[in-house]
Amino acid sequence: MTSTQQFDLKINGGIHQVRADGATTLLDVLRQQVGLNGAKCGCNQGLCGACNILLDGKAVRSCLVIAATVIDREIETIEGLEQNGELSPMQQAFLDTGAVQCGFCMPGMVMSATALARENPEAGVEEIRNAISGNLCRCSGYVKVVDAVRLVTGA
Ligand code: FES
Ligand code: FES
Repeated sequence: MTSTQQFDLKINGGIHQVRADGATTLLDVLRQQVGLNGAKCGCNQGLCGACNILLDGKAVRSCLVIAATVIDREIETIEGLEQNGELSPMQQAFLDTGAVQCGFCMPGMVMSATALARENPEAGVEEIRNAISGNLCRCSGYVKVVDAVRLVTGA
């Protein structure tokens, strides 16, 4: 796809019509067309994890995903975790442990942690550290982030 085209994406259980060319990233589509600003643009080069979303349940960097390649895939953003006005257990745990500082990295961090907890509900500390190792944070020191995920997995 070289020219701009219109197509549907499955995001947080709904269908969203978007327009993109062969170079438009999923991150840009989410933020600029769908109005989902939770995923952040930190580096736009696949280095920081601030843009992490779930693609078919796996945490991926949306700044590296070409939007036109994920038609018919299940896309989930931080906004999709809340159900009926209630934060997900992982979101709540991040708040309860004081893991959130400036918050910029947190949507990506929570999505990485959510993917881990779904795949391995009893993940231990090393698995938690490994799961968030691609998420850079300049504020928290990571200790409270690991504590937050431990609250959910019981580690
Ligand atoms: S913005 Fe995607 S990895 Fe940094
Ligand atoms: S809480 Fe500020 S960058 Fe992580």
